[in-house]
Amino acid sequence: MVVESFSIPSRIVDLQAEAAFIVLEKAKLAERKGIDVVHLEIGEPDFDTPQHIKEAAIEALKRNETHYTPTPGIQELREAISEYLREVYSVDFDWRSNIAVTVGAKQAVFAVMLTLLEEGDEVIYPNPGYPAYSSAAKYAGARVVPYRLTVDNGFSMKAEVLSEMITPKTKMIVLNSPNNPCGSILSSQDVRGIVELAEDHKLYIVSDEIYRPILFDGLQHYSPLNYASDIDRVVLVDGFSKRYAMTGWRLGYVTVSKHIHPYLVKVLNIMTSCPVSFAQRAAIAALRGPQEPVYEMVREYEKRRNVVVEELSKIDGLRFVKPTGAFYAFVDISRILSRVGRSSEEFVLDLIEKYGVAFLHGTAMGSYGEGYIRISFANSIDNIRKGIGRLKQAVEEVMKG
Ligand SMILES: Cc1ncc(COP(=O)(O)O)c(C=O)c1O
Repeated sequence: MVVESFSIPSRIVDLQAEAAFIVLEKAKLAERKGIDVVHLEIGEPDFDTPQHIKEAAIEALKRNETHYTPTPGIQELREAISEYLREVYSVDFDWRSNIAVTVGAKQAVFAVMLTLLEEGDEVIYPNPGYPAYSSAAKYAGARVVPYRLTVDNGFSMKAEVLSEMITPKTKMIVLNSPNNPCGSILSSQDVRGIVELAEDHKLYIVSDEIYRPILFDGLQHYSPLNYASDIDRVVLVDGFSKRYAMTGWRLGYVTVSKHIHPYLVKVLNIMTSCPVSFAQRAAIAALRGPQEPVYEMVREYEKRRNVVVEELSKIDGLRFVKPTGAFYAFVDISRILSRVGRSSEEFVLDLIEKYGVAFLHGTAMGSYGEGYIRISFANSIDNIRKGIGRLKQAVEEVMKG
């Protein structure tokens, strides 16, 4: 018998891929067994990409824009991003030396971590949070220091708490507002305090603003770019996936200091050479075209958010904060879990099999997600009512039993 041994490096074995895809697979498996599953686990818009954006890509294809582009993206797209940033943040970014287009915001996160972090550096990041931050930082050799988000701290980050976590090795703080998975946003006071702290300690702030326009109740978004006296220390990560419903196009971008840009571009070059050529034309149409489709989606998310809150309020034993941004509610179900003696992951899998509803277990977003589930409202109001109704039934049976 020939036994083959494959030696996979520990940095790859230890990489944590997004567990959201595992739940989706389980749900699909249950569906193949004939179970009707309501999908409230998915982290992507259920809307289609607006027509004018698709047409711009089709026109680019017709013009045979099917070749490599410069690594950081075509000039016109970087100019469009620069115009957009000037309009939104009143900050001047030079398209040549500050902006790079990436293959999704996920690549931006990875490339930034690889470019900026050294073995032994410390990175403070939100936990629960988007899993790529800690995966990429660890891959780059850094030590990751979780900032715990809970219902009790309103899923927000405070400068006072952060200041206790900073050591001489701290190099970076990661922010994500509006937040995945918590649906929270940072207040102007929070952002201002964090910027002051980061500047005092000469830290980078990586600000992931991919959900930026998805805000409810007339609330405003605040970015470190609004307050930074030194924008060279702020790295903005953004993308087209969420606001323009363009997940499959794989387009994001990042802004960095001109001192960092050549190194970041080198990393991007090694990874992918360039972003998809014709998708970049679609992104220009997204930024320069009508924004009404975005507002329409946001209005719809807000209606759904209201339904999520209304339905969750009918269930005893849950704790949650009303989401103010993104399209997620993060719900503390620890009372129910301790009653059944299950982890959030086990409970989520039970809910798929026994009740026909899929959520994301909190631990898919970090260790401090234990005790929570993420409910995505990238689904219709009818399905949201049906799915949360199924959760209610499960909770009532658990609490009775
Ligand atoms: C907070 C956050 N950042 C970044 C991303 C990556 O998005 P993409 O790579 O599709 O641009 C996601 C996707 O779920 C996200 O939730």
